[in-house]
Amino acid sequence: MNNQPVLFLDSGIGGLPYCRHFHGHNPAEPLVYVADRASFPYGPREQGELTGLLITLMKRLLRLFNPKVVVVACNTASVSALAALRKAFPGLPMVGTVPAIKPAVLESQQQRAGVLGTERTINDPYTMNLAARYRPDCTITGIAAPDLVEFVEHRYALADEAERRRAVVPYIEGFRAAGVDTVVLGCTHFLFLLKEFQWAAAPDIGIYDSIAGVSHRVEALLDRDEQTLRTDRGCGEAHLLVVTGASPLEPSWQRWADAFDLTLRRLEDLDPPENDLHAEALTIPDWIHR
Ligand code: DGL
Repeated sequence: MNNQPVLFLDSGIGGLPYCRHFHGHNPAEPLVYVADRASFPYGPREQGELTGLLITLMKRLLRLFNPKVVVVACNTASVSALAALRKAFPGLPMVGTVPAIKPAVLESQQQRAGVLGTERTINDPYTMNLAARYRPDCTITGIAAPDLVEFVEHRYALADEAERRRAVVPYIEGFRAAGVDTVVLGCTHFLFLLKEFQWAAAPDIGIYDSIAGVSHRVEALLDRDEQTLRTDRGCGEAHLLVVTGASPLEPSWQRWADAFDLTLRRLEDLDPPENDLHAEALTIPDWIHR
């Protein structure tokens, strides 16, 4: 039995619906959700830079939380860096989040599917290769929506339904103009706008996401080795929302923590910079002591 947490990671609030979905089906499992506010947004970053940021952050998170499974609840990070992360941390079970392209291409009547994501996800060959692998005769229209990522991260909680609907309409109209009849929400942030997307897309466009798929994948990992990976403790400890970056945190973080029933912590408070210095000191090369 194993009481280490399942750790979810995204650049911001995007992965919270994924975390909640998993929790709804696995209420006993301890959870740590990490919002990498210090490096938000991931979408405009180059692959090498993003990979470096993620490896550095992950080292710190592993040292602090010793998770039994890491869920990269971010399409951008998964598409660009999951392979490098797996290589950097062999033996650590990791679940990625990639756009739910398979059902969208297979179920498209018009042989035209759309993917909405960050610029990194849309421009990464991985995304298009995925489509070609499952249905080469299906045309894919990719739209990058960095404004919508910003909207969800910084404005969603204050916006009323009319504003939320206005935010998604131009994207759905773009897909409709391209003759698309299935659209994949290829960024975890967009799950916050699922209802609005479904409203704008009805009745001719279907909306697809990866939330249930990711949760099943984590469950399958835990169940594969139930004796050693499932918890026996039940939900004894608070689940954490850990936010990176400088103080003070914007008040919205406490509201997100309350809304998702998580206890808010700042990474730098749990792991002050002195610890980093200490960690660095341990890896100083020998020549320095000569
Ligand atoms: N939520 C992330 C995703 O799924 C990306 C948002 C960002 O640009 O940081 O791609």
